[in-house]
Amino acid sequence: MSRTFGMIKPDAVERGLTGKILARIEEAGFKIVGLKKMKLSLEDAQKFYAVHSARPFFGELTEFMSRSAIVAVVLEADNAFTKWRDLMGATNPAQADAGTIRKEFALSIGENSVHGSDSEENAAIEIAFFFNQFELV
Ligand code: CMP
Repeated sequence: MSRTFGMIKPDAVERGLTGKILARIEEAGFKIVGLKKMKLSLEDAQKFYAVHSARPFFGELTEFMSRSAIVAVVLEADNAFTKWRDLMGATNPAQADAGTIRKEFALSIGENSVHGSDSEENAAIEIAFFFNQFELV
């Protein structure tokens, strides 16, 4: 068993898709070991996405992620990192496979409904950014 980090982004929470996406996660066989709804400040979003700070879309990304509530999750499964990337689908929904969350729900490459860590190392960092040990059960 391993753990990875995921977020339901503002575009999906705003459209009332939280329950549907959590159901998709559980139906895929993940155990949700951490779950938290919160509103990020612009500074929180800039800190979380610091790795992308040189990218031209950094301002757009951090303003979007701090626009309204997000839902942060820690997901446990065999090969959780790969399994969650597969369930999310490609970053750009136009390139996402049928049956993935982004294919079904994402609006654009920016407003793409869900986030997943991009490596197993970053998963541990991102989990620690949002959760303490007592919140993972
Ligand atoms: P995420 O998995 O949260 O990690 C970084 C995010 O940057 C990514 O999903 C996209 O939502 C966003 N992103 C990547 N490329 C672009 C782009 N060209 N324009 C706007 N946002 C982007």
